[in-house]
Amino acid sequence: MNDTVHQLRCTGCARVVAQRDARSNFRCAECGDLFEVEYPTWSGTSASPSVPAQVSENGQNGAAAGVITLARPRAWMPNASALRWLWKERRHSALPIDQSGVWRFRELLPILDFPNDAVTLREGNTPLYGMPRCARASGMERLLVKHQGMNPTGSFKDTGMTAALSVARERGFEWVACASTGNTSAAMAAYAARAGMRCLVLIPEGKIAWGKLSQAMDYGALTCQLRTDFDGCVKVLAEIVERYPIYLLNSVNPYRLEGQKTPALEIAEELEWNVPDHVIVPGGNLANCSALGKGFQEMKRLGLTTAIPRISVIQAQGANPLYTMLAQGEETLKPVHADTRATAIRIGNPASWRKAARILRQTGGYCEQVSEAEIAISKAEIGREGIGCEPASAVTLAGLKKLVADGRVRPTENVVLLLTGHALKDSEYTIDFHRGTLLTEAESRGYEAAMASLCSKMPVLDASADAVLRELEAGVRG
Ligand code: F0G
Repeated sequence: MNDTVHQLRCTGCARVVAQRDARSNFRCAECGDLFEVEYPTWSGTSASPSVPAQVSENGQNGAAAGVITLARPRAWMPNASALRWLWKERRHSALPIDQSGVWRFRELLPILDFPNDAVTLREGNTPLYGMPRCARASGMERLLVKHQGMNPTGSFKDTGMTAALSVARERGFEWVACASTGNTSAAMAAYAARAGMRCLVLIPEGKIAWGKLSQAMDYGALTCQLRTDFDGCVKVLAEIVERYPIYLLNSVNPYRLEGQKTPALEIAEELEWNVPDHVIVPGGNLANCSALGKGFQEMKRLGLTTAIPRISVIQAQGANPLYTMLAQGEETLKPVHADTRATAIRIGNPASWRKAARILRQTGGYCEQVSEAEIAISKAEIGREGIGCEPASAVTLAGLKKLVADGRVRPTENVVLLLTGHALKDSEYTIDFHRGTLLTEAESRGYEAAMASLCSKMPVLDASADAVLRELEAGVRG
């Protein structure tokens, strides 16, 4: 484990621990808050002013002042131009870790002793798509989406899983575990299978999409469906990791976030090292927003970029504890009973809410909530671009519409939505939408026309050309 280059810093009380001293639940022994990975020579608050910090191309010193805590002299860091060149060159390499969109950037996540042994499925390197029709629907001049659903197991979780599961293997664990609304378990099961490790999945019974459950089963996970919700699964797992030598792979594990920060690097790289004005992500357990924020902050500190975008979080109205806390001006999050058809983000007591609130504050981002009808319509609009996504991802477009409507986002801004999961993850939701059976009458009130214009027909016809041609002509007429 690369303890000489990185350490863990508590995001609550700033206490620093070596990674081998972290508790099995990844909570600070002093204050109970969560850790983040820090590279003392260049990434965090402890970067030393006496050690020459990375100097950016615009001549600014990239390191913050603070206290020396590093055990050994700083690792050599190439300059920003050299990094950009190296990361691009690796795309032509045949080495598995070079083909990974996470490990391609390994200078910014030196968490392994032997990065060549990282467990990788060639995750990352996901597309950034232009979305002209969604731009029009939201009142924007242009709009980009970064589609993390185009990862090997169909969600953004793969980028974090390659990082944290590789750490678990280097540390000699045989078993890994997570509580999940579906995507984390699918990713964990796949990477554990690749690594020859065993894995335990806890999921809320009947509340995850079939596509995700089928993945965990296919990859050989011990998949336990508990008679509770996601928050209940988290509680049970907290006790298990205390009682059994099993490595926790939920997003409280700070190594997950090191992998999940790399889409920020990809976005900047794809925009020729410019950053967008605004990045919008769905909020569930609330870790991903801070992972992306960390990526953007570190890039700026190293002189790779010159700005940090606003990062905004959108929650489903039925699972909106962060939105409620901020809207009411509270300092502490009150858990809610979560209920939304966007099952990936059906979370009432998110573990990383403090990290999320901090990144919103630091970047000037917003938190919004969106209704079931707004999610369904936005998902269908993303589908109509030939892209598609799972319901939880569509909250980003629904949230953007609200931010534009009340002037918090200007139509000329460069906005990137993070689509977190693939459309095939939850095909039942999609089919129910197009059949018109997804929402209750009350939920669809006021949205009937918008939904009707997006619903695709699937008529059942006699097997005759005449019957099909009648449909075709009706379609041509409008
Ligand atoms: N989008 C999708 C598709 C997700 O699966 C999740 C979380 C999120 C957004 C929210 O990300 O938790 O970092 O705020 N899914 C977890 C899981 C909880 O178990 O798969 P977050």
